[in-house]
Amino acid sequence: MTTSPSTVALAPSEITVLARAVSQAPSVHNTQPWRLRVRKSDVDLVERTALRLPAHDPEDRDRFLSCGAALAHLQLAARVLRRCDTTSFPSEGTVVATVHAVPGASPDASDLARYHAIGRRRSHRRRFRTEAVSEVDSTAVTAAGTEADVQVIEPGHLDALGEMLGFATRVFRADPAYQRELHSWTARTFGLHALGAEDGVPEAALSDEPLPAAGLVRWDTPVPDDARLTEHLEAERLLVFCTDGDTRHQHLAAGAAVERAWLEATARGLAGSVLTQALHLRGFRELLAERLDLPGVPQAIFRFGHPAVPVPPSPRRPLADLLPDDFPGPRTEPDDPNRST
Ligand SMILES: Cc1cc2nc3c(=O)[nH]c(=O)nc-3n(C[C@H](O)[C@H](O)[C@H](O)COP(=O)(O)O)c2cc1C
Repeated sequence: MTTSPSTVALAPSEITVLARAVSQAPSVHNTQPWRLRVRKSDVDLVERTALRLPAHDPEDRDRFLSCGAALAHLQLAARVLRRCDTTSFPSEGTVVATVHAVPGASPDASDLARYHAIGRRRSHRRRFRTEAVSEVDSTAVTAAGTEADVQVIEPGHLDALGEMLGFATRVFRADPAYQRELHSWTARTFGLHALGAEDGVPEAALSDEPLPAAGLVRWDTPVPDDARLTEHLEAERLLVFCTDGDTRHQHLAAGAAVERAWLEATARGLAGSVLTQALHLRGFRELLAERLDLPGVPQAIFRFGHPAVPVPPSPRRPLADLLPDDFPGPRTEPDDPNRST
């Protein structure tokens, strides 16, 4: 009797490939708030709810957006590995989504290019080269992020955006509780602490520049005047990811959409970074939607362009940490997050 292909359990080597792809996803402050649970050919993406950022992400929205980014990697890797094309979303509990790694549609050329970009994608908190992004590239990046639940908008009214980001910079710089939390997720990877670091944002991945390149406002982030900040914004390609509402499912969809766009940009030799920090200021998203005429609730801003310099990778937890204790496969060594997949 032959086994039906739909029930062929994932081999340990396949699980390792999936776990490596998930581990390389971006996450808020590099918290990596996920685990995997494997059941034959089904893979559950499980949220690590204990990983909280009360000052930065009081509503855990970014944690769920991060899980969305991890889901995008899991789906992509499963499609390349197993031609899988189905995902289900449990309505409660910590299981965010289940990817059914069963034979389905073949990966197309875009899937393959994005999959191979996973190991090269980084948060690029630097200014870009002045060379303009071509319309072909820009359209492809926007299309990669667009899906049924998520609208991707190139914002106008950059003067309004500059004014609002400038205000947010001043608020975050002056908030001691916020800065203490941010410091605890960055200082852990500074200097000697970098040895063996598994999470957090390394100093070398941060920036001395003002927004938008800075990405995260620290106590010493420069504050240019609003007009100068607007000029910086005008020099970059920006996308705002919007959803109709503000449910967990929409956060997940937005996180996956941002990541698909980011991988598409990376596959095309571009670089980018995500900005959500300012969106956590009370009332900021509502005002942004109004002033930028957005069609929904803004969940994230993605800036991209041609990289001028390389940026270093951020650390990742060992693959074994992603997998539950009852995982039947190999206990892998801490993995090199930079290895191309
Ligand atoms: C939901 C989400 C929100 C993020 N918000 C910010 C942000 O506001 N500013 C920033 O510089 N980086 C932000 N990041 C990027 C993370 O800090 C980054 O992914 C993480 O440090 C890992 O580094 P890597 O992207 O180079 O792999 C965000 C990432 C995600 C997924």
